[in-house]
Amino acid sequence: MKKLAAGNWKMNGSSAALAELSALIATHPAPACEMLLCPPATLIAQAVYHTRGTALLIGGQDCHAKASGAHTGDISAAMLKDAGAGHVILGHSERRADHSETNVLVKAKAEAALAAELTAIVCLGETEAQRDAGETLALCGSQLHGSIPAGANSANLVIAYEPVWAIGTGRTPTLEQIGEVHAFLRAELVKALGEDGHGVRILYGGSVKPSNAAEIFAVKDVDGALVGGASMKATDFGAIVAALSAA
Ligand code: 13P
Repeated sequence: MKKLAAGNWKMNGSSAALAELSALIATHPAPACEMLLCPPATLIAQAVYHTRGTALLIGGQDCHAKASGAHTGDISAAMLKDAGAGHVILGHSERRADHSETNVLVKAKAEAALAAELTAIVCLGETEAQRDAGETLALCGSQLHGSIPAGANSANLVIAYEPVWAIGTGRTPTLEQIGEVHAFLRAELVKALGEDGHGVRILYGGSVKPSNAAEIFAVKDVDGALVGGASMKATDFGAIVAALSAA
């Protein structure tokens, strides 16, 4: 299994930020892990052009569940593929919150992604209130089983465990808490997909930065990271890529 360092720029970045891609490629031309950045949709085609022939992969942050049609403002999985994306983040907690995305919708979007031959990065994770109520594993299990698409396998599905309370807050779960959820997700993936479930990458996301990346990557069943803020700067994301390559 090749580990995955993925960056999510969210609604940040302009064409000037593409200079960070060049810097990242220059400092990490051939990392031992996969290296992926998901800029806003407006930058995908430029980013693909900027990174052609390099180890830096480009993905999207969302897609519509339908292949085409009257859905003003939306983008289909096939359009992302056509723009040169190879991956798409789906079911991020910000989309679940801001756009009322349910497991059923996330699953439909993930199925659209697979139909367009994109790798789906399906996000899940508990709120602080859910953790405090002892609901973390039950919630993550229901999000996992409710969101993973038909036809999923270790080549086309990545899971990102992102506790909502750790996103953009500088707070992270303890290494034991991360290990508990990842081990649980691994077991549930094997239940859902059989032996191939062992090969599905499970990323940790939420306040990953150069100073905590190595210890998080040493946790069993952490197969990479989904990085927000620290993915905007080549030096920070490069340090995370280096930590994952060394793990
Ligand atoms: P931060 O790394 O900024 O906490 O964001 C994590 C995230 O939401 C990645 O999808």
